[in-house]
Amino acid sequence: DKGNYKHFMAKEIHEQPEVLGHTLSRYFDYTTKRARVEGADQLKFKDLSRLIITACGTAYLAGLVSKYWFEKYARLPVEIDIASEFRYRETPVSDKDTALVISQSGETADTLASLRYCKTNGATIGAIVNVPESTIAREADRVFQTIAGPEIGVASTKAFTCQLAVLAGLALQAGRERGVLTPEREQELVAELIEVPSLALKALARESDIEKLAHPLSKASNALYLGRATNFPLALEGALKLKELSYIHAEGYAAGELKHGPIALIDENMPVFVIAPFDAIYEKTVSNMQEVAARGGRIVLITDERGASECGNAAENTVILPDMSDIVAPIIYALPVQLIAYHTAVFMGTDVDQPRNLAKSVTVE
Ligand code: F6R
Repeated sequence: DKGNYKHFMAKEIHEQPEVLGHTLSRYFDYTTKRARVEGADQLKFKDLSRLIITACGTAYLAGLVSKYWFEKYARLPVEIDIASEFRYRETPVSDKDTALVISQSGETADTLASLRYCKTNGATIGAIVNVPESTIAREADRVFQTIAGPEIGVASTKAFTCQLAVLAGLALQAGRERGVLTPEREQELVAELIEVPSLALKALARESDIEKLAHPLSKASNALYLGRATNFPLALEGALKLKELSYIHAEGYAAGELKHGPIALIDENMPVFVIAPFDAIYEKTVSNMQEVAARGGRIVLITDERGASECGNAAENTVILPDMSDIVAPIIYALPVQLIAYHTAVFMGTDVDQPRNLAKSVTVE
């Protein structure tokens, strides 16, 4: 049932404040302000020299965001790869390893094969899945469920942000177990994460600004998305969503890679989405943005008040989100990224909930 929405995707985007609340309250203790991930001890975070993460598509991009978190907050190196590559790489895995697989459906063939590869080699398997009775959930040693509810739209939205919420819980839990996070620091971070549902509501309130971008974007045949740090996976996610929903060719790049090739594509017909809250790395992204502006590229900057006022006149359009801390930013910035693709596709009249050539659950490789 789509309720009052035109598409399941719109409904699922708008459900995020609520389902993020459900997921966060499963993995965080709001009273003590600590991560509380039952069964995380099975993953042996304390003894690991690296954590393996593998998944496909948008779920892989959630894993890529978490790499920054595990490394920063838990000093735990992460080896992440897309499942279709990982499964054939013959990478060394042993009983000293823990592997995390991430999958909304829990049925993705390549992700399941990666799980089995790790399991056969003796690793402990944790799975972040949305469907608890799925094959991946059954075969993992420990399941961390996203409480996103059924996701019908083929493009993953609420499952992605809920995966991030679970991964944040695991990263903070790992940080505590590895003696990296002090109790005070953990409490600070959890207090910030508890704000996610209300920040998500505020981000969704920007929808009409975002809808206005759809018309000019629908005329483009290419688009670029740029970001650094945890906004780099979001740039990849923005490009993936735009491609699959509107069939506009799009690429996501780490902003620092711009001058190593893709800058050659920039001209006045190229919309460039820059995802850059005013954080420690903002200045670096702005200098990339100025390089784009100097070549006539049409920039849409997704940022906060401070970021909008510090960018000079490089951006043609801005989407302004509330101020927020580093750890919550990738969860909240995912929402405008989803809405851009959604509204562009609606404007172009494509089948938003069932894009051509795609299946919700990819059970063949
Ligand atoms: C993109 C999208 C896909 C899935 C991918 C993995 O919007 O939905 O990229 O994320 O097919 O699917 P799951 O999470 O079911 O393993």
